[in-house]
This record gives sequence, C-alpha cells and structure tokens, in this order.
Amino acid sequence: MIVVLMGPPGAGKGTQAARLAERLAVAHVASGDLFREAVAAGTPLGIQAQTYMDRGELVPDDVVVQMVLERLARPDCRRGVILDGFPRTAAQAEALAAALAAQGRRVEAALLIEVPDAAILERMTGRRICRQCQTPYHVKFNPPARPGVCDRCGGELYQRDDDREETVRKRLEVYRAQTLPLVAYYRAQGVLHEIDGLGGLDEVTARLLAALGPGVDRWA
Ligand code: AP5
Repeated sequence: MIVVLMGPPGAGKGTQAARLAERLAVAHVASGDLFREAVAAGTPLGIQAQTYMDRGELVPDDVVVQMVLERLARPDCRRGVILDGFPRTAAQAEALAAALAAQGRRVEAALLIEVPDAAILERMTGRRICRQCQTPYHVKFNPPARPGVCDRCGGELYQRDDDREETVRKRLEVYRAQTLPLVAYYRAQGVLHEIDGLGGLDEVTARLLAALGPGVDRWA
C-alpha cells in the first residue's frame, strides 16, 4: 500500500499520516521530519536543507528524492507506507513512480487534504512539535495532557522556526506554484481523493479512511 498525503502546509498531513499509519499498520515517512532530524543531528544533509527550510522554499529535488527513496528501501516500508509531504514537485512524483514501477508497485491513492488559508494560519501559529518524536500538537485544537510535554514520548515541545507568519505565507505560495500541479497528475491516474480538512481530528481521519475504501485493511 502506497498512499500519498497532499495538502498545503498546516493542512494536517503529519497529524493524519501518523493516525493512518497506526490504524493500517504501515510506515509513516515524512520528508519534513527527515530533514528536521538531519538538521538536529547537524549532518551535511541537514546543513544543506536548513537554508531552504528557513526561507520556506523547497529543498532541491535531487536531494529530497535520494533521501526519501533510501528511506523507502528500509524493511519497515515493505508492508506499506503513508507518504507525508512527498512528492511535492512533478520531478519528485516522476522519480517516485519510476522507483515504485521498478518493484512492480505504484501509488494506490493520493489524498488531498483541503483547508482554507485563514484556518491554516491559526493552525500553524498554535502548533508545537516534539523535539524527540516530532509528534505535532496544537495549543488549542490538540493540546498535550501536560503543557510543553509530548504525550507519546515525554519529549519537549517546541515551535518550528518556519511557523512564523511570513514564512508560512511563503510556504503557501510555494505550495500553489510547485505542488498544486500534482493534483492534476494524480487525478489523471484516477487515484486522487479530495478531502475536507476542516473539523475535528477524528472526523478528518474518518473521511480519509472512507476515501481509501472499505477493503483498505486488506491492501497491505
Ligand atoms: P514539512 O514539514 O513537510 O511542512 P509542510 O508540508 O509545510 O507541512 P506541515 O508539517 O507544516 O503541516 P502538516 O500538513 O503536516 O500539518 P500538521 O499535521 O502538523 O516541510 C517543511 C520544509 O521541509 C518545507 O518547507 C521544505 O523546505 C522542506 N521539505 C519537506 N519535504 C520536501 C519535499 N518533498 N521537497 C522539497 N522540500 C521539502 O498540523 C498543523 C497544525 O494543525 C498542528 O498544530 C495540528 O495539531 C493542527 N491540526 C491538525 N489537524 C487539525 C484539525 N483537524 N483541526 C484543528 N487543528 C488541526
């Protein structure tokens, strides 16, 4: 099972990808999380990625593709994977399709989570992320049991540097210019599902599962 989660920054991709991956017992691969881990570890990849991330721009395709394809080759992805934040450009989508085709696999579903800009800004400015496991929270919509502490691993919660309002606006611009064209790409393949991302977390999860269809548990 290969499922791509798409949507503007702050649409809830990370939140919902974690829920779907747990529910369907498949891996959750988030390109943004992989970059943040590399930044935190101070690796050459992290140093290279950070300048782009801080500006709200996309990291170059060759760097992203290599990183994600290496991750997809790991054993935990064999059963299936929810891809969160990748692909984000036509070149990334083509590289993914080619790598999957070489293994006789394909993207079975692309789920587009749609949220209007006004709601996105409110979600981003209230977002807090776990430094250790990257679980996202929101001070109002999805608060942790203890303020500042991750429910899942006890890690410290922090605010991402790229969640400042001007960077969020830049990321929205980049999304429209470079990632929205992928909607037509996946629609043409007959795998696109458009999902209303407004509402409670459980409601959105239910819509995503419904889009995947009643037999989704048997896909992997
Ligand atoms: P990345 O980390 O992928 O950021 P993004 O796509 O902009 O998405 P976000 O993580 O900001 O949001 P999300 O949709 O996951 O929302 P979340 O669930 O957290 O990428 C960061 C950077 O890395 C990029 O700018 C780029 O530089 C680089 N990069 C990454 N991938 C790349 C690629 N493929 N190519 C090139 N460069 C790449 O939710 C947001 C908030 O809303 C949270 O607080 C959450 O609790 C809350 N929330 C979630 N659902 C709801 C709901 N239903 N109601 C109310 N609040 C909600």
